[in-house]
Amino acid sequence: MEKEIIEDSNVAEEEIPSLPDPVPTADLNVQPQEQPLSPKDEQPVIVIRGLTKSFHDHDVLRGVDLYVNKGENLVILGKSGTGKSVLIKCLVRLEWPDSGTISILGQDLDALNYAEMNALRLRVGFLFQNAALYDSMTVRENLAFPLRQHKKNMTKEKKDALILEMLDNVGLVDSIDQLPSKLSGGQSKRIGLARTLILRPEIMLYDEPTTGLDTGTGKEIIELISKMKKKYNISSITITHDMSCAKMTADRIILLKDGIVYAEGSYEDLEKSGDEWIRSFFNF
Ligand SMILES: Nc1ncnc2c1ncn2[C@@H]1O[C@H](COP(=O)(O)OP(=O)(O)O)[C@@H](O)[C@H]1O
Ligand SMILES: [Mg+2]
Repeated sequence: MEKEIIEDSNVAEEEIPSLPDPVPTADLNVQPQEQPLSPKDEQPVIVIRGLTKSFHDHDVLRGVDLYVNKGENLVILGKSGTGKSVLIKCLVRLEWPDSGTISILGQDLDALNYAEMNALRLRVGFLFQNAALYDSMTVRENLAFPLRQHKKNMTKEKKDALILEMLDNVGLVDSIDQLPSKLSGGQSKRIGLARTLILRPEIMLYDEPTTGLDTGTGKEIIELISKMKKKYNISSITITHDMSCAKMTADRIILLKDGIVYAEGSYEDLEKSGDEWIRSFFNF
């Protein structure tokens, strides 16, 4: 049902831009920080400061700070149950943090009203761990669904062309009239990706994109994600247990431990860290 929350928006419809424009600096209300947020002085598309989240007396997130630069894929590693999914759900308000700030594409989430939040959600795609297609709809109808909800003014011709473009991206044009039950796990994942990308999000959140897939199929999904990142200049966060996924996709990695960002660096740096706990992720 999580999917519905994201798609169920009553935001004014507009045409899909051909490609996202760079975020104008003037529109960004990210406050100057004492410490530079990003080593390269790039304007981050996501900034999280001091995020906390508890469930009853269970402190899951205890002050998470992170940023994602434009065009960058940030990989989040951490043991199971450390709050990785909770963290990225906070970005689209599927979870509400207890404290801390989140800024996405220059907008502070706390300052947004309902309609503004829904508008922002359309710019952020989310591929859930167990993303399900609508069983009773064909592949074509599954892809048409977000367009029908969010692009009401788009002509049928344009919608049909977009559906074909997205199916072509994921190599499944021939499956257009099939029902999801006829698709393999890898094919379903591809269609799930196509359905999310059809709204041209500028940011993608991937929760365990290769979990449940065999190694070869997982690699195909990783390659597809990388291809889409380049084609549409997508910035992203990827949660994964799959170290080959981390190695192939990460521009930068952070490790979550005990509710905070315990370490940060490139795959190569972290792999040879002096910290045994950090290194344990890389001995696979
Ligand atoms: N809605 C919820 N209610 C209570 N506890 C939750 C809820 N969502 C997540 N948790 C707990 O928060 C912790 C972090 O969960 P999660 O973010 O899913 O971990 P992971 O790092 O494996 O993605 C877990 O202990 C989980 O049981
Ligand atoms: Mg998770």
